[in-house]
Amino acid sequence: MKDKNHDKLYLYPIWVRIWHLINAIMFLALVFTGLTLQYSSVDFEIIKFNYSISIHNYAGIILSIFFVFFLFANRFTSNGNYYQFHIKGLYDRVMKQFMYYSFGIFKNEEKPFPITKERKFNPLQKLSYVLIMYFFVPIIIITGYLLLFPDIIPKNILGFSGIHFVDLIHIILGFVLSIFIIVHVYFCTIGKTPLSNFKSMINGWH
Ligand code: HEM
Repeated sequence: MKDKNHDKLYLYPIWVRIWHLINAIMFLALVFTGLTLQYSSVDFEIIKFNYSISIHNYAGIILSIFFVFFLFANRFTSNGNYYQFHIKGLYDRVMKQFMYYSFGIFKNEEKPFPITKERKFNPLQKLSYVLIMYFFVPIIIITGYLLLFPDIIPKNILGFSGIHFVDLIHIILGFVLSIFIIVHVYFCTIGKTPLSNFKSMINGWH
């Protein structure tokens, strides 16, 4: 869809915006309660330990339900096309975008991969979104459910206690995804104006 002002593109359909908003809120709740669970002790609780557990569990369940919705919606709508990437030439494309962010952008050079209806994400965005949505998020969800039902975790995994092993993966991914959010939000400020990408995620128009 293109509007009368010619260069406005409708890139974020309503379902993407609703999914993204709920996903972001749940993620922030999970990071906060995850950290309080990790660093609470008998003498130091940021919020009550039991509250943290409940909020963490509910937020995780809501996030996972919306994640399944995201997978289906991406599979059956054209939004999924933006997530298909080709290995051939990937390195060169990603490097080109990386060099632009590192140097070109400060010299006001042309964007190497301007946004079009066919290309919503630049190569770095695409790579990070695919890795996050199709690799890291599924693993953190699966390990989260295993920890919710610890009886199904084998006693021993690769010579380690099963629960500790699953917990370690869950926590490492929690940190990786927390760093992703910080970097993601920072990169979202690199738009026409610092707020324009955030406005796009609210009204759908780029
Ligand atoms: C405070 C939290 C967050 C803010 C403010 C935020 C902001 C934004 C903005 C402005 C966009 C549109 C620009 C773009 O396409 O790059 C976007 C897109 C996106 N964000 Fe976030 N985000 C947040 C959290 C997250 C989290 C936690 C995830 C996943 C774990 C995520 C995954 C995505 C994905 C996959 C897209 C592209 C969606 C699509 O168009 O198909 N975001 N985000």
